[in-house]
Amino acid sequence: MGEIVFTEKQEALVKESWEILKQDIPRYSLHFFSQILEIAPAAKDMFSFLRDTDDVPHNNPKLKAHAVKVFKMTCETAIQLREKGKVAVPDTTLQYLGSVHLKSGVLDPHFEVVKEALVRTLKEGLGEKYNEEVEGAWSQAYDHLALAIKAEMKQEN
Ligand code: HEM
Repeated sequence: MGEIVFTEKQEALVKESWEILKQDIPRYSLHFFSQILEIAPAAKDMFSFLRDTDDVPHNNPKLKAHAVKVFKMTCETAIQLREKGKVAVPDTTLQYLGSVHLKSGVLDPHFEVVKEALVRTLKEGLGEKYNEEVEGAWSQAYDHLALAIKAEMKQEN
């Protein structure tokens, strides 16, 4: 794959917006999961912490952990794309991500659902600081990370 162009400005936008969302993880992780379930109600049963509940649980450590991982790893990917022009997730992490998602029954289209939920959560959190440039930078970083995880899932399958 050729070098990916990811600008300093894009990296800064991703970092700045993550700094804002990070200040209220309980609120934004709840919003993120509510969006996932609004877009794809059937996704609920894949998550161990949602399977036996009617509502998205407040202050659930596993729920918060997944939300934080998605945002944080996308942010790290943005930094790697700007620095190296490619995704640079360590192989062991990628293998772990591949197997966890494969085991949980995650399919390619689910990655689009999570991307949409991420974008909606950014919109909610950033308010008037949200714009198309912010969305574009996050989307680009997320897409590259998702591509790497999906490729790993196919290799393991
Ligand atoms: C688990 C990251 C996308 C569903 C995990 C774990 C990580 C992770 C690190 C392990 C959790 C832990 O050890 O605490 C990511 C990242 C994603 C992504 C970085 C995208 C860039 C998705 C998508 C789905 C999904 C698209 C499906 C809608 C799950 C499920 C688990 C899991 C069901 C098992 C959680 C449980 O039941 O406790 N993910 N994930 N993930 N992920 Fe993802």
